[in-house]
Amino acid sequence: MIKAQTYLMENAEEEKRLEMKTDPDAVREQAMWFGMGPGARILDVGCGPGKTTALLHDLAQPRGLAVGVDISENRIHYARAFYGKGYNIAYHVRDVRLPMKDLGQFDFIWVRFLLEYYLEGALEIVKNIAANLKPGGRLCLLDLDHNCLSHWAMPPAMEAVVMKAMMYAQDNFNFDLYAGRKLYAHLYDLGFEDIKLNIMPHHLIYGELQPADEFNWLKKLEVGVVKAPEIFIGYPGGSRQFLEDFKIFFRDPRRFTYSPLILCQGRKPLQGHVKTIRKDI
Ligand SMILES: C[S@@+](CC[C@H](N)C(=O)[O-])C[C@H]1O[C@@H](n2cnc3c(N)ncnc32)[C@H](O)[C@@H]1O
Repeated sequence: MIKAQTYLMENAEEEKRLEMKTDPDAVREQAMWFGMGPGARILDVGCGPGKTTALLHDLAQPRGLAVGVDISENRIHYARAFYGKGYNIAYHVRDVRLPMKDLGQFDFIWVRFLLEYYLEGALEIVKNIAANLKPGGRLCLLDLDHNCLSHWAMPPAMEAVVMKAMMYAQDNFNFDLYAGRKLYAHLYDLGFEDIKLNIMPHHLIYGELQPADEFNWLKKLEVGVVKAPEIFIGYPGGSRQFLEDFKIFFRDPRRFTYSPLILCQGRKPLQGHVKTIRKDI
């Protein structure tokens, strides 16, 4: 039985946040590492507003295609409006915890920043979507590790609130702070072959603050204020003062913030089915 789950970052501007924070050059670099190129059939799982799908689609030309799926009707509506007009690109509302047999099979399945929302259930998702991979196709997993937790020199009282917020997300929204380090084990446990790993910086913020970074991080905090006001209890001046102090910290060109992105790829066995080394799924 699949448990209902609220997407932690759901908010009225989530399409805009994802749109702004998606760096096309970074997506292309990541896709090249996975070996994507002309002619590839690519499934983008948890595609958000569709920007990544469109970038992968462009890399797959000529002759390739890209399909994006997301559970959010709003994001798929946005994706179709902004990125869905081209040839061989399509977007569908889907819950990736359920079978998607009708979409067919792909050479590459790309899963970026989705598994972090499934502290419980990530391996089951990977197993489910592997059914949409051709034998010999590559599963491409990308996720953050030590998510949102690495900043210097953040005042200790502020750091304590950030840690409390992340623990709240973990305990109440099934959020996984360490999704990145688990990717290799998912593919290993499912019997994937030729598994490769890479690490790239995701947030690498120093010097002048860029508008996209400011919008992304302040939006995360605003979502925290709305969804978990109790995490600010005990902070002098409460959530309002915390937001002001965070802005001062974050706009200071001396601060350094980073999050490592783990990239993991594996080949589906040619006999076409994934085995399960772990016995509990
Ligand atoms: C942080 S966004 C990542 C978007 C995009 N992959 C990227 O790299 O920017 C996570 C997306 O996963 C979607 N999502 C969460 N659970 C899902 C599920 N069970 N099935 C399909 N999409 C899901 C959310 O709606 C959201 O758009």
